[in-house]
Amino acid sequence: MSMNKSIFEENESSVRSYCRKYPVVFEKAKGSYIYDGDGNAYLDFLAGCGALNYGHNNDEIKGAVIDYLMNDNITHAMDMYTEAKAEFIDTFKKDILEPRGLEYRIMFCGSTGTNAVEAALKLCRKNKKRSNIIAFMGAFHGMTLGSLALTTDRVSRDGAGVSLDNVTFVPYETGFHTKLDSLDYLETIISDDHSGVEKPAAVFLETVQAEGGINVASVEWLKKLEKLCHDNDILLVVDDIQVGCSRTGTFFSFERAGIKPDMVTLSKSIGGYGFPMSLLLIKDELDIWKPAEHNGTFRGNQVAFVAAKKAIEFNVKHDLNAAVTKKGEIVKEFVEKNIFPLDDKISLRGLGLIWGIDFGKLENGGEIAHKIADKCFEEKMIIERAGRGDSVLKILPPLTISEEELKKGLEIILKCTKEVLGK
Ligand SMILES: Cc1ncc(COP(=O)(O)O)c(C=O)c1O
Repeated sequence: MSMNKSIFEENESSVRSYCRKYPVVFEKAKGSYIYDGDGNAYLDFLAGCGALNYGHNNDEIKGAVIDYLMNDNITHAMDMYTEAKAEFIDTFKKDILEPRGLEYRIMFCGSTGTNAVEAALKLCRKNKKRSNIIAFMGAFHGMTLGSLALTTDRVSRDGAGVSLDNVTFVPYETGFHTKLDSLDYLETIISDDHSGVEKPAAVFLETVQAEGGINVASVEWLKKLEKLCHDNDILLVVDDIQVGCSRTGTFFSFERAGIKPDMVTLSKSIGGYGFPMSLLLIKDELDIWKPAEHNGTFRGNQVAFVAAKKAIEFNVKHDLNAAVTKKGEIVKEFVEKNIFPLDDKISLRGLGLIWGIDFGKLENGGEIAHKIADKCFEEKMIIERAGRGDSVLKILPPLTISEEELKKGLEIILKCTKEVLGK
């Protein structure tokens, strides 16, 4: 049954955002679709902003969760020892860390991604006894004050109400500083005793900037950055909150470069079923926390542990990484063949199942991307924008999307792009 939106508009804070872009009342969801109260099916190319890599109401994960709940197993335990947590840790170690030769201690943070970033910030500063952090222009690391200090977009920063300090921003490899070698610049400001930049405790890195407009760092750049950090006694933290959990075709996004970060943040799809969960992975020697030095009531949602364990099993059983890589090729081929001919200023960036169609070089590129996203919604597809001027159309479907559904979504984007560009 369709519902009146006025209950939200009259009572909910004006901070609400996605509901303004997709202004219907949703009721159900399955796989790659979500349904409004009138039964309209919307193809989901946003996937909970990366929290729904395994699709909506994934049957295999749901079964495990229902069994857990039906047996009155413990649902809230703060960070006490539970069987659900033990089983998650065991599966994560055996199926994810060990096959990749990775050894990390696992810290269960508060339930959102930003809490893992906050924990990482504290722990890096505590280890190195330095306050400055390097972050990259275009970065998004979350909305609490520490994470927000690492986040670059002005709208988000304007909400802080205090100065956001102790961070030095450096251009990312790609995008907007075509004439600058960003790592050469970073090395210079670290070593130059007249740079005015305090030696940092850590570099916080997205190997693919998602909110920043799908900027993909090259393997060479990532390797060089790791070496630079290592040579200068600076920690390297990879924020894999959005592009981890197989989004780029490997479980961790940094695998393609063969680097081993000192810390890794994970959230969003680690909870498997859209359940809140976040982790900080820490190299053993850096785990110098005193007990309870970073805590929170909702560390370790037991139901999320159950879903997370099943999600990892699902990932391995269905060889999700191979499927993601294959579907990524479909996106690339389709856009190059069908959308590039519409205007030679349109470009594409991405890998796995995160892609950005960039309209930024067209006059009013942000407006064009906005209109395309709105038209897609009229065509019953949910798609988001990102990057400078919000001019990048962001393709982020569930990783479980079928090839037909993926092609259907791409056809919708093509149709809407043609309409908006008048082609
Ligand atoms: C790379 C990255 N880090 C951190 C966050 C913050 O996560 P959360 O919104 O769960 O706090 C996000 C959210 O989009 C993100 O994309």
